[in-house]
Amino acid sequence: MKWYWRPSMNKITSETKSIKQFLLINGEKVEGPAYAPLYSPYSGEEIAQIAMADKELTKQAITAAYNARGAISKMPAYQRAEILERVVALLKERADEAAEIISRESAKPIVFAKAEVARTIETYKFSAEEAKRIHGETIPFDAAAGGVGRIGYTVREPIGVIGAITPFNFPLNLVAHKVGPAIAAGNTVVLKPASQTPLSALFIAELFVEAGLPAGVLNVVTGPGGTVGDAIVEDDRVSMVTFTGSPSVGIGIRSKAGLKKTTLELGSNSALIIDKDIQIEDIIDRCIIGAFSNQGQVCISLQRVYAHEQVYDEFIKKFTEAAKKLKVGDPLDPDTYISALIAKGEAERVLGWIEETKESNAQIATGGKLQNGILEPTIVTGADSELKVSCQEAFAPVVVVNKISSIEEAVELVNDSRYGLQAGIYTNNIKNALYAAQELHVGGVMINDVPTYRVDQMPYGGVKESGTGREGIKYAVEEMTEMKLVVWNQS
Ligand code: SIN
Repeated sequence: MKWYWRPSMNKITSETKSIKQFLLINGEKVEGPAYAPLYSPYSGEEIAQIAMADKELTKQAITAAYNARGAISKMPAYQRAEILERVVALLKERADEAAEIISRESAKPIVFAKAEVARTIETYKFSAEEAKRIHGETIPFDAAAGGVGRIGYTVREPIGVIGAITPFNFPLNLVAHKVGPAIAAGNTVVLKPASQTPLSALFIAELFVEAGLPAGVLNVVTGPGGTVGDAIVEDDRVSMVTFTGSPSVGIGIRSKAGLKKTTLELGSNSALIIDKDIQIEDIIDRCIIGAFSNQGQVCISLQRVYAHEQVYDEFIKKFTEAAKKLKVGDPLDPDTYISALIAKGEAERVLGWIEETKESNAQIATGGKLQNGILEPTIVTGADSELKVSCQEAFAPVVVVNKISSIEEAVELVNDSRYGLQAGIYTNNIKNALYAAQELHVGGVMINDVPTYRVDQMPYGGVKESGTGREGIKYAVEEMTEMKLVVWNQS
C-alpha cells in the first residue's frame, strides 16, 4: 500500500502552519480539487490548508469503502482487535501531539484536550476488546409446536459501509466512537470530520494506516457538509449513517437517508436537580466542570440547574465565586479553563441570548460579556423557561439557575424540554433519587452527579430531539451489525 503522509504533517509550527492536508481514499493520499484555509478559533491565525472534496471524490471514497468490505468483514476478529490495539499503542506514544492538534484546531483548553486523548485511548481499547465478543444466541425453537425438530441461532454480521459524520467538540474521541466500533464489527467507513476540526481525524487515520488497516477500510473526506455529507447520506452503497451534531442537521440526515440505519447523537439543554439535603460545597467542583468544561460545547453540558429553595442562595454564591476564578485565555496555556468558542458567530449568538435575558426578570450573577473575544463563564438566575438560554441548546459557557420547592416540581421542569439526553440529581433521599430515575425522560440519569458524565463504554444517547440509537462500544456494535438467523431442520 502506498502511503505518503509526511510524519510532521500535524506538527503545526510557524514553518508548517500552512501545510496542505489530503484526503485519505483507498489507503492513498489524494489531493483536493480545491483548498481552504483553516484558522485557529482562538488566535485567528491560519493553521493548515484543508482539501475541499467534491461529490466525485466523495463517491470515489464510497467506492473504495464498498470494495474493501471483504477485507475487513472476512478478517478474523483477533486480527481486527490487533489493529485496534496497535492504534492504542501508537496513540499512547503520540498523545501529547494529539492533544496539541485538538487544542489548536478547536481552542479546547489543553488540559481538556489531554483528557480527551486519554479517553480516546480507552475508546479504541474497548473497541479492540469488543471485536472479540460479538456473538449471537441460540433460540429455543421447540418452545413453539411448529419449531419442534429445529435448532437455530443468530449471528451478528457487519452492516457494510458506514458513513460517519463527526462534530468539532470532541474531534478525536467522537471519531473514535464511530470508527472504533465500526472496525471492531468488520465494517468499512467513510468519515467526514467537522469542517473546523479535520486535523484530529487525519491524524488518527495516519495511525490506522501505520497499524496495518487494509486500504479502503477507513476513508477520510474533508470538505463542505452540503457536498460531502449529502453525497455520503444519499449514496445507496452506504448502509448506515452515524452522526453527532445539531438536531437540525440530524433531522436533515434522517430525511435524506431513506432506509439506511441512522444513529443520531444530537443536542440537549441538560439539567441538574439539587435537593435540600446536599452539602453545597461538595458539589461545586462538579458543577463547574459540568457547565464550563470545553466552554460548554458538550452535548451534555450542564445548562439548567434547579436548586431547592433551602440551598438556592448558598449554591448561587459558591457557584458564582468558583466561576469567577476560572482562567480565560489561550487554549495552549495549561492554566486556561475557558477559551474561544468554535467560531466568532457563536459568541455573538450567545451574547444575543444573554441580551434577551436582560430584557426579562432574569439576573446575570456573573459573566455575560466578552474578555478579549472570549465569552466569560456566565451564570443567569431566575430565567423563564421560554428564554433561549433555558429552552434551546446554548453550547456555550452559560448556565441558568432556578429555585424549586419540591423534587416533583423540578422533574417536571427538567422534562419540559424538547431534548432528553442526560440529567442529574444530587440528593441523599433514596425516594427522591428513585423518583427522578423513574420519571426523568432522558437517555441517562446520573444520581449524585451532574448530567455531564460519560465514560466510553456506557450506553450514551437520548430521547426526543436528542436523537436515536446509542453509542458506547458494545451498543454501537449492536447498531453497526445486522442480526441473521440460521435455522436447521433436523427432521
Ligand atoms: C457529546 O458532546 O456528545 C459527547 C460528550 C462526551 O463524550 O463527553
